[in-house]
Amino acid sequence: MAGITDLPFRLMTRSFGCGFAFLEMVSARSIVSQSGRTDRMLKSMQEDRPLGAQLLGSETGFLVQALERIRPHGYEIIDLNAACPVEKITRKGKGAALLREPKKLKTLLEAMVRNSDVPVTVKIRAGWDRDSVNARDIALLAEDAGICGLTIHGRTRAQGYGGKVDYRVIRQVKEALSIPVIASGDALSPQLIWKLFEETGCDAVAIARGALGNPWIFRDTMEYLEKGSVPQRPDSDEIADAMLRHLELNCGFYGDKKGTVLFRKLLPWYVKGLHEVRPLKTDAFKVATPQEMAKLIGAVRDYKYRHAEGNYAEVMN
Ligand SMILES: Cc1cc2nc3c(=O)[nH]c(=O)nc-3n(C[C@H](O)[C@H](O)[C@H](O)COP(=O)(O)O)c2cc1C
Repeated sequence: MAGITDLPFRLMTRSFGCGFAFLEMVSARSIVSQSGRTDRMLKSMQEDRPLGAQLLGSETGFLVQALERIRPHGYEIIDLNAACPVEKITRKGKGAALLREPKKLKTLLEAMVRNSDVPVTVKIRAGWDRDSVNARDIALLAEDAGICGLTIHGRTRAQGYGGKVDYRVIRQVKEALSIPVIASGDALSPQLIWKLFEETGCDAVAIARGALGNPWIFRDTMEYLEKGSVPQRPDSDEIADAMLRHLELNCGFYGDKKGTVLFRKLLPWYVKGLHEVRPLKTDAFKVATPQEMAKLIGAVRDYKYRHAEGNYAEVMN
């Protein structure tokens, strides 16, 4: 997730069992121009493997040069984004706009496959809008281009991140391809992740918003899939401990000031579902040092879930 899945975020999810993660989406152009921000986005470490990089781009030249530049990082997979719905991006023919130009998408993927020494994959959506659901055709073209796997978000570009996920279109894609298909869309709880597997027959599920403030979703989902038991949400001590660890990772990676400011955005997700946390969320936006933030996090230990027993259904509402 762009703006979210930085190294500290990924390390948090890894510590709760995330088996494979992606960097934030990176623009091929900015990799080529070597901006400082991009360099930081590309950073990883041993505990952060296996790891995929996702490129954004619509020009073969930039994509191929970007592949060259990132080669020394040794990412396990390189993915092309053909799913991002943001207008600023699609206006330039990138992200989900590629769904409207299947031939171009195929050419880009062929060039990436030719120039990559690791597997290339693609992320698509169901289609551009309700009247142009073309995931199956796009997926077949992409497979033809030589990719090794495909992730599909079962919503159209027009739907953005709301509305119903179309399980049927994911299943159609899965049935049409012989490479692994990864399903995405409302993977928000162990139960919904199980449903994605069941309804689509997919090979794997990509967890996105379900991991916001909830790194436990990886552990809980494995438990649910393996044993069928519905996991309890962590108690407030566990939440506070994880928040402190995430804050520490943020400050280690970005420095105290930026690490704390960036943590402000994460705090509301971590405390979601706890009783009367609004003042805590408001206070978080006034805090500027890690010490003050840690004190605020300490207060989380006294909070209880809004409902007697925190579970996923309640937290999601
Ligand atoms: C803030 C945010 C940033 C995202 N950034 C990316 C991205 O960079 N690359 C990508 O393939 N998908 C991105 N996504 C989409 C997710 O990977 C996922 O496909 C989508 O959120 C649907 O899954 P979910 O309903 O389980 O969250 C992003 C989603 C959100 C909410």
